[in-house]
Amino acid sequence: MVVGTGYVGLVQGACLSALGHTVACVDIDEQKVASLKNGVVPFFEPGLDILIQDGMKQNTLAFYTSQQQAVDALGTVDVTFVAVQTPRNEDGSCNLGAIKAVVTELGTVLEEGLCVIKSTIPPGTKEDIHTWMNNPRIRLASNPEFLREGNSVEDFMHPDRIVLGTETKEDANLLCEVYEKLEAPVHIVSVETAQLAKYAANTMLASRLALINEIAIIADIVQADIKDVEQILGEDPRIGSRFLRSGAGFGGSCFPKDVLALADMAARKGFESLLIEPIIKTNTRQSDYFVQKFGDVKGKRISVWGLAFNKDTDDTRESPAIAIVKQLVAAGAEVCVYDPQAMENAQNDLGDSVQYADSMMDAVQESDILTVLTEWPEFQQADWALVKNQVKEARVFDGKNFLPRDMMEEHGLIVEGIGLCHKEHRRPQSTCE
Ligand code: UDX
Repeated sequence: MVVGTGYVGLVQGACLSALGHTVACVDIDEQKVASLKNGVVPFFEPGLDILIQDGMKQNTLAFYTSQQQAVDALGTVDVTFVAVQTPRNEDGSCNLGAIKAVVTELGTVLEEGLCVIKSTIPPGTKEDIHTWMNNPRIRLASNPEFLREGNSVEDFMHPDRIVLGTETKEDANLLCEVYEKLEAPVHIVSVETAQLAKYAANTMLASRLALINEIAIIADIVQADIKDVEQILGEDPRIGSRFLRSGAGFGGSCFPKDVLALADMAARKGFESLLIEPIIKTNTRQSDYFVQKFGDVKGKRISVWGLAFNKDTDDTRESPAIAIVKQLVAAGAEVCVYDPQAMENAQNDLGDSVQYADSMMDAVQESDILTVLTEWPEFQQADWALVKNQVKEARVFDGKNFLPRDMMEEHGLIVEGIGLCHKEHRRPQSTCE
């Protein structure tokens, strides 16, 4: 059984059924379950709809609105994965409300079994969960996910590693069987180690982004080129080239929340981290710094390409693009937005404070400035001659430092990012490379 059919739970359920298991997915959202029963995924995640339709056809995947219905349908439930939201509280701590509700119910619907927490929750919560389950015959495990939205199915099927935090050897063996068809190193560890490893991974990645983003601001100040700096850093095998792309800040449902929760957890145990909390402060400053580059935008018409926090997703949670649009609107700009997938979610975030375009070229019509805030490939491949004709000031603000600036400049556009120095300060044309 998989409880929770969000970005994590649905991928877990669909992929487990593709691996040959019989899976019942549960969600209390009746509309969502009704949509899934018709094979319609309520959000955009490449490849997921096909897996779900296949699983339903093969009768290895079904959807229910209560755990009891799922247990009745399955008969025996060997493993229950819990993948519900663990949002952050105002003070940065992790909100376990949904986990508590799910495991309390689980304790009553299951006689015995293994409850595996997929949601990201802090170490030190094991005893609470056992108390809420109130059923000594249900064991607990932690099996964190390392899925990138937009790439989740691929990440599930070809993981870098599988982390199994269990209380007993038998439970570790059971989970090894669940994942036996996947080829990846398996780490069998304690529940606490598994939980900390997940927070550590996200905090490590977020800190790397925070640092390269600050270095991009410094590149602006000294008129160096951050794209060249990124490449030079990336060729050092101790640093590596992945997750080193600077921009106007990172977002998503995981990084900001998990970084704050790790700092909060340490603080509760009496340890004040000097390094972790500033990761989020620098991230907020990064998008503020980017917006300041626009200058006075009062009365200007600004077109925005990209609202999702990442390409290949419709998710706008903690998206820097949404924060940037809100700031532009607050500064008096008239904003017209476009995203290939995230328009519906963006409407919930932005309401009628902006105009919504049907295509990228619709968005730029008659605008003064264009800004690009999500790394969708179609934005990179835009027809820059057409853009130049529409954007009156011919200025493009690249919030991801990813647009083909040489080509754009040839079309008479001025490209501004963070740490993208002006042409005259860029690399000299040498023949020795
Ligand atoms: C992340 C982790 O990667 C994943 O392992 C974990 O399980 C959940 O959190 P996700 O948030 O879906 O996944 O996306 P990710 O690709 O990690 O991107 C997070 C943010 O960082 C995005 O806003 C992205 O645009 C930004 N980013 C990423 C950069 O700004 N530069 C980079 O080089 C990489």
